[in-house]
Amino acid sequence: MKTLIICFSQTGNTQKIADCIRDGILEVTGQCDLVNLSDVNTNSLAEYDLVGLGCPVFYYQEPFNVRDFIESLPHLESKHWFVFCSHGSVIGGTFPSMAERLGKKGITVIGYHDSYADGTLPFYPYPTLTTGHPDSLDLGAAHAFGKEIARRSQRIAEGDRSLIPAVKPVPDEWVRTAGMLNSDFLTQMMPRLRIDMEKCTHCHACEDNCPVKGIDVETDPVRIQEPCIYCYYCAKICPTLAIEADWDMLVAMAPENYARYRQALDEAAARGEFRWLVNPDTINFEDPLYKQRERQARGEKH
Ligand SMILES: Cc1cc2nc3c(=O)[nH]c(=O)nc-3n(C[C@H](O)[C@H](O)[C@H](O)COP(=O)(O)O)c2cc1C
Repeated sequence: MKTLIICFSQTGNTQKIADCIRDGILEVTGQCDLVNLSDVNTNSLAEYDLVGLGCPVFYYQEPFNVRDFIESLPHLESKHWFVFCSHGSVIGGTFPSMAERLGKKGITVIGYHDSYADGTLPFYPYPTLTTGHPDSLDLGAAHAFGKEIARRSQRIAEGDRSLIPAVKPVPDEWVRTAGMLNSDFLTQMMPRLRIDMEKCTHCHACEDNCPVKGIDVETDPVRIQEPCIYCYYCAKICPTLAIEADWDMLVAMAPENYARYRQALDEAAARGEFRWLVNPDTINFEDPLYKQRERQARGEKH
């Protein structure tokens, strides 16, 4: 059995999960390739009997670059794929959306795995509600999933189609929210980024790490957010904080959003699906990540 894991990960959470799933698969089959989403050759995918596709959850769904990747796939009739993701408080409509889109490519989705994980957005406080995840228990669960999915794929290939799971239904509200948070809506509602060329050192970290190649600091005027998946990774990693935005509106919305996220996490904890590793009462809404980074840049301590 030939297996491949495709992973999109910015801050490393999904990558950790991917590594553990891979270790689990390796224990069963002795082979498993792992590749970054940006390096996939879609023409080679038909060679694999089992493919895993992993990503973070952005805006209640798979990131738009991952969605575009799925749309770009050739028809892969009856191939076994599994999907996995890391996320903060709400996985939203991610798995139903990925499963439906992969199904349209003829792919049979034979498994799903998700993990709670730390989250960093410039306008939200840090630490956040899910900081500390994925921890060793989460990574152990990913490893166990890897072993299980390899065995499951073998048995389905031998004819036991009863092992193909249906995608777990999610609340309608999550699917509706994911649908609302589409690219057009985010373009209108989310803050526009700008680059302060006095601070830019032309290190190109933003360009190199933009998943949709939406930045060029050498053009005049500079090109930024053309296109954009609103991950804000460029603003998070710019070493001189040259990429800026007006975060005030989102900072002001944080307490209300967090009340919703906290409720979702409390409900997940009651179902035994989430463990609190931070005390949610200690979250400091006055101190969003971007302010912490500004203080750091000025050499100030916390
Ligand atoms: C732009 C953005 C949007 C996000 N939206 C959600 C979301 O809707 N639900 C959620 O649970 N987590 C959300 N997160 C948190 C990420 O899913 C989480 O941090 C993930 O583990 C990041 O994966 P990575 O480290 O592999 O990049 C979001 C993070 C970013 C940066």
